[in-house]
Amino acid sequence: MNAIALPDIFEADVAGRTVLVRADLNVPMHHGVVTDATRIIRFAPTVAALQQRGAKVVVLSHLGRPKGTHNPVHSLAPVANALSQELDTPVRFGSDCVGGAAEAVSRTLEPGSVAMLENLRFHEGEEANDRAFAYLLSANGDIFVNDAFSCSHRAHASTDAITRLMPSYAGPSLLAEVEALTLALDDPDRPVAAVVGGAKVSTKIDILTHLVSKVDFLIIGGGMANTFLAVFGHDVGRSLYEPDALATARRVLVQAQKHNCEVVLPNDLVVARDFAANAPSEVAPISAIPSDAMALDIGPASLESAIGVLERCRTLLWNGPLGAFEIEPFGRATFALAQAAAGLTAAGRLLTVAGGGDTAAALGAAGVADRFTYLSTAGGAFLEWLEGKQLPGIAALTSPESAMENI
Ligand code: 3PG
Ligand code: MG
Repeated sequence: MNAIALPDIFEADVAGRTVLVRADLNVPMHHGVVTDATRIIRFAPTVAALQQRGAKVVVLSHLGRPKGTHNPVHSLAPVANALSQELDTPVRFGSDCVGGAAEAVSRTLEPGSVAMLENLRFHEGEEANDRAFAYLLSANGDIFVNDAFSCSHRAHASTDAITRLMPSYAGPSLLAEVEALTLALDDPDRPVAAVVGGAKVSTKIDILTHLVSKVDFLIIGGGMANTFLAVFGHDVGRSLYEPDALATARRVLVQAQKHNCEVVLPNDLVVARDFAANAPSEVAPISAIPSDAMALDIGPASLESAIGVLERCRTLLWNGPLGAFEIEPFGRATFALAQAAAGLTAAGRLLTVAGGGDTAAALGAAGVADRFTYLSTAGGAFLEWLEGKQLPGIAALTSPESAMENI
């Protein structure tokens, strides 16, 4: 067992046994070609380590949302090829994840060899968390491993029901992700700062409410900052903001005060008349946002105070960009703050954990994707963790009814 009390697959004897590994190989594809192999590259070491220990490895994943129909557009066959190339080892492909086609592959593997089965979501039983479907899946292995943190917010057959049918363990990528998030949010070195950006307060209410009870500083940027500025009576011009979320923003501020969390809002903004690359822009103090302009980034003074906060902190949790980073030059503050965080990480002064939605793309564009302590590729699962929710796929590995106890 590790610090977070999840059963670790590398503490089990897997030699000669068939290990069924739930991965998240839900990768972007275009016309049958994998366009971003990050998840495959990150998962490959799990397979290699199991091979090395003499396991027969059977990989399970979903791809897209085919909703229980066998839509060839969502076939995992190209992903099996990409994994094979990454591992430099053959990966046999089962044209179904259950039944004869699956078992013909999974039951004829040699120790150290690898197979992948077709998309779990070709069957309705997957998303329905159907026990009978999970039972059919379990026929393909002796031991189950969940190595898909980013699918663990789903109570599906391959993340939940199956754990009650087989000895079940956490894989190394899932453990690394849970450990990073635990270090940043549940058991951090203080002070802790959170940076939360993105367009809307309304989609991040639960995150903001949870974070103010956990962190010492909450730095708010992106479109959602405008809603907070409006709470203080600032006229935000044509900036994106949500009049319907004013009461929510106010409640977040009250909660923050109650928990001694300092909310850091921008005091200047980069504003433009057009939402377009290289649109003429200027810096405006929040008290004088031109009525015909919109905020597209936080300003230099705000950036400086955000950097100052990070310099005083030991831990940083980051979700969401500070501005419209996809269009020049409105990524400036996001990139500069990310680079400052990466520098503090390199100096051993700050533990940095980031993830969710656009964040990986923003940090990638800032050139710091591998300079944070941990960058999650999870979307929904990362956000639900930040909301303080229990993820069903993780809970299933710790629950007493997990068949692990019966080995
Ligand atoms: C993801 O890409 O976020 C995960 O693979 C989960 O996919 P889903 O949102 O379709 O469940
Ligand atoms: Mg998703």
